[in-house]
Amino acid sequence: MQTLTTIAALRAALSERRASGARVGFVPTMGFLHDGHLTLVDDAKSRCECCVLSIFVNPLQFGPTEDLAKYPRDLEGDAGKAAARGVDILFVPSAEEMYATTRTVSVVPERGGERWEGAVRPGHFAGMLTVVAKLFNIVAPDVAVFGQKDAQQAALVRALVRDLDFPLELVVSPIVRDHDGLALSSRNKYLDAAARAQARAIPRALDAVRAAFDAGVRASASLEQTGRDVLSRDAAVAPDYLAVVDPGYLEPRDTARSGDLVILAARIGTPRLLDNIVLGATS
Ligand code: PAF
Repeated sequence: MQTLTTIAALRAALSERRASGARVGFVPTMGFLHDGHLTLVDDAKSRCECCVLSIFVNPLQFGPTEDLAKYPRDLEGDAGKAAARGVDILFVPSAEEMYATTRTVSVVPERGGERWEGAVRPGHFAGMLTVVAKLFNIVAPDVAVFGQKDAQQAALVRALVRDLDFPLELVVSPIVRDHDGLALSSRNKYLDAAARAQARAIPRALDAVRAAFDAGVRASASLEQTGRDVLSRDAAVAPDYLAVVDPGYLEPRDTARSGDLVILAARIGTPRLLDNIVLGATS
């Protein structure tokens, strides 16, 4: 595995790989890799001969009250995991490499970014889309792989690719769950054993909504209440939102249909966890 820190070095390495006929698959991350990220690597590798993984804790997507300095980092551990999983190029740029001090342009969503995570984290999605657009221009991948766990992010990146004509195939990989049903996330490391047990209410609530949908319930209010009832059994679980939404712009639906998402964010103490399911899908 090559580890590169500059845009120029990455472009040079990629042009050599492309000259020998390799297609490039790209997995952007902020590091602290877990099996969910590594599954995205498997996806990229199954489609392309060269897999690039980036690690960049993007300051633009952190709000003034969010602690960028405290974001978990483990570059050495990440490099070991990436190499073992078959990543060909690890791209680890600095903030100075990514953002000139003269930066004045960003990518701002006009639709789909205002609710849910966008409401809780103002400016987050503009920061995320800006860095993703830059990374797409830097890596110029044939295939880019994102995780479904961050459903709103995935929907906005889909819109970015479509609306700004990035010539790449976007793959959104299903959520990877732990043995207890919890979606894999870097934030799970903040859960102690008690909080971890309480957090299981999140996948349980989504399972209950899925079961109600499969049993024929279509009114979103009723489906949402089913999920909230499960969450309310544990006082330690504080839901931010639980909603049935369309998969394109994550706008609330009155009547649920197959393919719609049920999105959920909840705090277990301090950690705030996200999860979602696709209605009508098998898992
Ligand atoms: O999901 C993430 O880790 C980040 O939002 C991403 C896509 C790497 C952009 O910084």
